[in-house]
Amino acid sequence: MCEDYFGEEVAARYDASAAHMFDPAVVDPTVEFLAGLADGGSALELGIGTGRIALPLAQRGIRVHGIDLSDAMVARLRAKPGSELIDVTIGDFATTRVEQTFSVAYLVFNTIGNITTQDDQVACFQNAAAHLNAGGCFVIEVGVPNFRRLPPGESMRVFHASETHWGVDEYDVANQRLTSHHFNLVDGRFELHSLPFRSVWPAELDLMARLAGMTLRERWEDWRRSPFTSESGKHVSVWEKP
Ligand SMILES: C[S@@+](CC[C@H](N)C(=O)[O-])C[C@H]1O[C@@H](n2cnc3c(N)ncnc32)[C@H](O)[C@@H]1O
Repeated sequence: MCEDYFGEEVAARYDASAAHMFDPAVVDPTVEFLAGLADGGSALELGIGTGRIALPLAQRGIRVHGIDLSDAMVARLRAKPGSELIDVTIGDFATTRVEQTFSVAYLVFNTIGNITTQDDQVACFQNAAAHLNAGGCFVIEVGVPNFRRLPPGESMRVFHASETHWGVDEYDVANQRLTSHHFNLVDGRFELHSLPFRSVWPAELDLMARLAGMTLRERWEDWRRSPFTSESGKHVSVWEKP
């Protein structure tokens, strides 16, 4: 099983530190998009976390099942009203099986990048496909690798700077690896938390989908279906199981 980077300390401050992602302006179009694909059926969230998307989706009448590695994140979900509507299996979403199939499986907020090898990302696509009904969809929301922003010869880029949080990305271009270093001000001292990612291009994800027997159905810049272009910083992609 892969390493759990979302232990007690991270889970305790997750909702506050990702507050911008809990804004209804972010959550509502995500839920609208996924509810449309679920079409009254059921949904599987890979990396359900504290329920940012699963809870409002379940409130829309969609049956949601989640998989997550982190007991600490799921404990935060369990402390929220409405979580009794959601089943969760603790495990690695690249390999853990739930004995059920779904209309839609989804993996949002760059979480595919938490899988740091190509083999395991391929396994994740195969696992998602195995959980889909015929005609079901797998949805990923992830940033486009932003190596273009790195001046030649440099490997670090500050992506956030505020009085309480500094974020520095460290790139390993040759290996498509990225480590995000977060310096958070806690009780007057900066604490460092580093999270590794594997950056992956849309075309490589399409190939992973193909290996798992799925084909690209839609690709957008965001959940509101803005066109995906060369300038898009992220994409929402939907692959369909025939
Ligand atoms: C960035 S958080 C996203 C949580 C939630 N989906 C959201 O949008 O707020 C990533 C979540 O994925 C989980 N996770 C990361 N890698 C995982 C893996 N290989 N298997 C299962 N869960 C994983 C983490 O424990 C964490 O809860």
